[in-house]
Amino acid sequence: MKGKSINLETKKQELFKKFCSLGWDSSISGLKTFDFLVKAGESMPKGSTLADLGAGQGRYKFFFEHCNYIAVDFGAGDIEWDYSALDIVGNISQLDFIKDNSVDFCLNTVVLEHLSEPSDFFAHVQRILKPGGKLFLYAPFYVEEHQIPYDFFRYSSYGLKYLCEKNNLIPVSITPSDNGCHGLMRIAHIALKNIITKPDQTSLKTSIEIFKNENNVLKKTWVVITSIIPEFFKYKSKKVYRKFLFNLAGYILGKFLVPLFDYFDENFKSNMSMPALWYLIAQKEGDLEVGPGLLTNKEDVVKSIICCPSCKSKIFFSEMARECVSCKRKFKYDNKQIIFD
Ligand SMILES: C[S@@+](CC[C@H](N)C(=O)[O-])C[C@H]1O[C@@H](n2cnc3c(N)ncnc32)[C@H](O)[C@@H]1O
Ligand SMILES: [Zn+2]
Repeated sequence: MKGKSINLETKKQELFKKFCSLGWDSSISGLKTFDFLVKAGESMPKGSTLADLGAGQGRYKFFFEHCNYIAVDFGAGDIEWDYSALDIVGNISQLDFIKDNSVDFCLNTVVLEHLSEPSDFFAHVQRILKPGGKLFLYAPFYVEEHQIPYDFFRYSSYGLKYLCEKNNLIPVSITPSDNGCHGLMRIAHIALKNIITKPDQTSLKTSIEIFKNENNVLKKTWVVITSIIPEFFKYKSKKVYRKFLFNLAGYILGKFLVPLFDYFDENFKSNMSMPALWYLIAQKEGDLEVGPGLLTNKEDVVKSIICCPSCKSKIFFSEMARECVSCKRKFKYDNKQIIFD
């Protein structure tokens, strides 16, 4: 018994190492996100089929090695990302290419804010989940705009509950990543970034003009701090200075401010919520029967859940093509990815 619990602890430590290598740390929201993913993985029986909807680079796959993991994404969120590990390329707001009652679990991490039709997404999740299947989702309430122009909404816990209930999913739990103090750190981070990168907005010459014409000493000092010093770094065109300042700011934030804000978050709780993220677990009514077990051939896993989006028939896989057995619609198949456009 003791040996088993030590093994579980070691496994968790390994997972945490991998998790931190993605850029996460042990701040409150880091630990809560880690816990959420560990618990999601632990609740999935071996051989479950998991569709990671909006998987990106599939960075959380290692939490689900015991599952038939399928990465679905339209591959357009971030031009710098490598989308080659996707299994299915398609729009997750219109999951007509996935069969009804075909997947045991869905994962959706920081994706909901990028969907223009979130309620359609929930309706599809409800349809593709087997009875008793679950959706594990986390979405931001309070983070900066990102992956623009595909960034449409921010979610409150009540918004998430509404989307579930409207689409016949039972909200099992909705929990915050922090109590709001953590948000101070995000503001500080963005403010520092703005100050340090400000040279892109005004030229050194303009800043010096403003400085000369300003009589108020306080305002003069402010121009020096926010314009002339950063302009100087740009003027010198030594990116390295700015990088150094930014890293220094990141170090100070990480070393002193994150623990301080985490301390506030732990010790001063009110009933007001302004977390960075909300974690949602939602379930389709019924009792889950997991099958067909862990499949080693990825193509078999994909075949077991997809259908023709036009007529819902089977898709036939041959060496030459992927085609609907009924309406004969053909689908592109590149680099082991089936593409639904
Ligand atoms: C912020 S990233 C999150 C990626 C991943 N879930 C993670 O946590 O690392 C959002 C992802 O959603 C994808 N995405 C956005 N809108 C989509 C849509 N309508 N259909 C499919 N994928 C979409 C983007 O391509 C991007 O990879
Ligand atoms: Zn068809």
